[in-house]
Amino acid sequence: MATGMFHTHMLFVVLFTFIYLLKTILLLSDKKELLDKFKKKTKVFEMVVSFGFLATGVYLLVKLPEINQFMILKIVLVLASIPVAVIGYKKENKIMATLSFFLIIVAFSLAYKAKDAKAGEQIASTDGKEIFETKCASCHGADGKLGLGGAKDLSATNLVQPEIINIITNGKNTMASYRGVLTDDQITAVTAYIENDLKGK
Ligand code: HEC
Repeated sequence: MATGMFHTHMLFVVLFTFIYLLKTILLLSDKKELLDKFKKKTKVFEMVVSFGFLATGVYLLVKLPEINQFMILKIVLVLASIPVAVIGYKKENKIMATLSFFLIIVAFSLAYKAKDAKAGEQIASTDGKEIFETKCASCHGADGKLGLGGAKDLSATNLVQPEIINIITNGKNTMASYRGVLTDDQITAVTAYIENDLKGK
């Protein structure tokens, strides 16, 4: 459910950014008539996209197991960009319009950083169970079944060792990558723990 919502959110984000980009280009290149026409034509569409973007964003936020400083900064930037954009495009103020577009772009690049930061700090343990409980149980639950934020039920997984290692190393959707956080040995240990103690239990 949350995975589908994540994709829907990304779709709205892309559409939203695209509309903004076109409007900013038209404004900056002094295509005033075209800009007015574009604004009129896309008014309803833009309202739907903006609403979808915010609604899916809020939904995901509520579902997230943890909110870090990148997330907060991202939300502040998106919220700040709204009045700047409204005034900027209404008054056709190029600086404000560009600034609001810039704020949105910075906010989205932070979203990727947030994904990395969520993985957290390095730990010393090489015990699979301990690694799982400190790094993974917040979303997956100690028994692998919690499913917070769309985390897959690990007791029901069909994945085999190389696939599990791949997901831990590279991340998947809202699950962060653990490359550089867990060593290869730690990833192997936690994978063995999933396969032997969670899978099928
Ligand atoms: C922030 C929450 C979160 C944390 C922390 C997290 N995961 Fe996940 N995990 C997810 C989500 C969400 C998915 C589903 C990804 C998808 O398929 O879209 C997932 C999927 C997986 C899968 C794939 C299961 C399948 O059957 O497809 C494995 C394996 C997995 N996680 C292992 C781990 C391990 C090991 C850790 C700790 C090192 C960990 N996860 C930490 C959220 C998390």
